Amino acid sequence: HEYHDGVKHLCERGLAKVPRKYILPPLERPFMSKKDGATNLKLPVIDLAKLQGPDRVHTLKSLSKACEEYGFFQLINHGIASESVLNMFQAARKFFELPFEERSKYMSKDQSVPVRYGTSFNQNKDSVFCWRDFLKLSCHPLSDVLPNWPSSPAELRQAVVNYSKETKSLYLMLVKAVLESLGLVETAENADENDSCDHLKEFEDGSQLIVANFYPSCPEPDLTLGMTPHSDYGFLTLLLPDEEVKGLQIQHEGRWVTVEPIPNSFVVNVGDHLEIFSNGRYSSVLHRVLVNPFKSRMSIASLHSLPFNSMIRPSPKLISDANPRRYMDTDFASFIGYMASHEHKNKNFLESRR
Ligand code: SIN
Ligand code: FE2
Repeated sequence: HEYHDGVKHLCERGLAKVPRKYILPPLERPFMSKKDGATNLKLPVIDLAKLQGPDRVHTLKSLSKACEEYGFFQLINHGIASESVLNMFQAARKFFELPFEERSKYMSKDQSVPVRYGTSFNQNKDSVFCWRDFLKLSCHPLSDVLPNWPSSPAELRQAVVNYSKETKSLYLMLVKAVLESLGLVETAENADENDSCDHLKEFEDGSQLIVANFYPSCPEPDLTLGMTPHSDYGFLTLLLPDEEVKGLQIQHEGRWVTVEPIPNSFVVNVGDHLEIFSNGRYSSVLHRVLVNPFKSRMSIASLHSLPFNSMIRPSPKLISDANPRRYMDTDFASFIGYMASHEHKNKNFLESRR
């Protein structure tokens, strides 16, 4: 069907109205509740330079608080060269600008292929489509997946190789900090000597998915969403939101608030795996994306999860009489299977694991 060709392709032919396929039921539309007005939110800021310096202990406290109260934070002084970020954005933009015939080579109904161009959330299942096209590139192990990545635009592969390596090492620094903030590692100095090592090895082998999102401008932005409310399934997501066009909203204190991105920073969020791992101390918060009436929007997400053969379970050290286990153990395959078979995850899966 034509909608499966993506919303960008649809828009390229000119649209004055949102087609029925994209119109949300009234109660699910973005501006339905008065509470969900135009409140902008500055997320808690975590400074990586401080995290790696003498202020580590204090910064870890802020990290904990952000993961508990928001499930989100902005990471500044992250150390990734702006050139690397720019190249990633530009390569993705060029991909979306390719002729449809070229992009459509990468369309697949199979959700497990290492490169996939697609639309909405799960186009096999969604009854209402999201106003979003995406390019998903699996990044691990690199030598296996690289030959499958698009060869056009010419700079794409190199840009993603650089970007994925840099975000992976940034992710591992954040994982160390997260383990420490949960009291699973005593201090940064002895992080290599105790059993956080096993954990870290597992995280190094974890999967990484780079997702480039493209949200065309939309003639009737109050009828649809770029992404419907969801939580991310992995451990942590490192997101580069569009620096000019806002759109990301998170659920905070019972209402939808718009994130105000800080230039040259990442928006980092807790995923379902970390919520479970932390036995519910950190929360994987629902978020969604508004579309803009005048401008298209782009974002680049780097999703990091545990390895495919891992069990997803609360850390035994975080279970006690005072703090009983809140989630069952789950294998990764059930997680993925659940997501492939449900229209919108909406954290129902987490609820079912309780
Ligand atoms: C996402 O939720 O993965 C994307 C958010 C965004 O486009 O800002
Ligand atoms: Fe997300």
